[in-house]
Amino acid sequence: MPVITNIEDLRRLYERRVPRMFYDYAESGSYSEQTFRNNTTDFQDILLRQRVAVDMAGRSTASQMIGEDVAMPVALAPVGLTGMQAADGEIKAARAAEKFGVPFTLSTMSICSIEDVAEHTSKPFWFQVYTLKDDDFMQRLFDRARAANCSAVVITVDLQVLGQRHKDLKNGLSAPPKLTPKSIANMMTKVGWGIGMLGTKRRFFGNIVGHAKGVSDPSSLSAWTAESFDPSLNWERIAQFRKMWGGKVIIKGIIDPEDAKQAVNIGADAIVVSNHGGRQLDGALSAIRALPAIMDAVGDKIEVHLDSGIRSGQDVLKALALGAKGTYIGRSFVYGLGAMGEAGVTKALEIIQKELDISMALCGKRKVTELDRSILMVPKGFEGDWQ
Ligand code: GLV
Repeated sequence: MPVITNIEDLRRLYERRVPRMFYDYAESGSYSEQTFRNNTTDFQDILLRQRVAVDMAGRSTASQMIGEDVAMPVALAPVGLTGMQAADGEIKAARAAEKFGVPFTLSTMSICSIEDVAEHTSKPFWFQVYTLKDDDFMQRLFDRARAANCSAVVITVDLQVLGQRHKDLKNGLSAPPKLTPKSIANMMTKVGWGIGMLGTKRRFFGNIVGHAKGVSDPSSLSAWTAESFDPSLNWERIAQFRKMWGGKVIIKGIIDPEDAKQAVNIGADAIVVSNHGGRQLDGALSAIRALPAIMDAVGDKIEVHLDSGIRSGQDVLKALALGAKGTYIGRSFVYGLGAMGEAGVTKALEIIQKELDISMALCGKRKVTELDRSILMVPKGFEGDWQ
């Protein structure tokens, strides 16, 4: 067993242990993957300001996200097909998050259902919904989330149509995987994964199969999005979803200050600055570069979170110092899950917390709640000088 010291170690292990189709699903961006790459590399353009001989004793990464106490402001992002990365993946990830003290967000496109995750956890989790045409199905999703004691709903607003990820089409992505000579040959080499999958009955989209009507191929994410998602979405409709839910709402997928203002107008509790991990509009701005302008526009009116590109505690530190109150990891926890199951998700969280804590200390700060831009060296023109 290799010594795991960073998120990249988990990614390498994950690549070896999980069938290619699901590795590719997580590890892809849309089209040329420019935005997917920039999401991570743009973090590296911001440098940290080292301070010495300041009191670094009694540090804490604890804070709050939407009024909930968190051990560190790093939630698990909603990731579709998580239960294909490891058997019962959503339950394992939710349990790891709960023990660690960070929020877990269940995707509508999960394998384990809302009810299943609720049954195997003891603290409220967050539930993510897409913006669908079918009001009855939306209402039922909200009712199910309420019955499962979810404490917030995350509404994804950047996926009315699905961004094209070439590998998913070439691999014939589906859950459960379609049995072709190529997929069988690949799965035969992933013994631990296969044993886990044979031992669980959770191999279908648990929130969809048996719940949504008129879906031609319920094993296909692309078929479901093409048939069920609302291409005519607008902010009034998002406000309507907020009313249908009636509880806390986080709007995920904002990359433009004008859209951030709209989210404030409908009374959302938080926004997530996100380009969907570079999976939707290729060529869009990276999340970390988009953050400063969004903070300027709405930072004093709404809680701002960020996802897309976080692979370390230093990335978290930079987002917080630029004003975000919370962050999310998607791929970073999926690597851990695919590599080592629940223990791998815990490992990913431990790695990130340790990196956050040590880097914060070396910047001369003791609390994540006291971070500000003074610890950063942001290059001139970082936000871009666009015409
Ligand atoms: C779904 O939200 C995806 O990014 O695949």
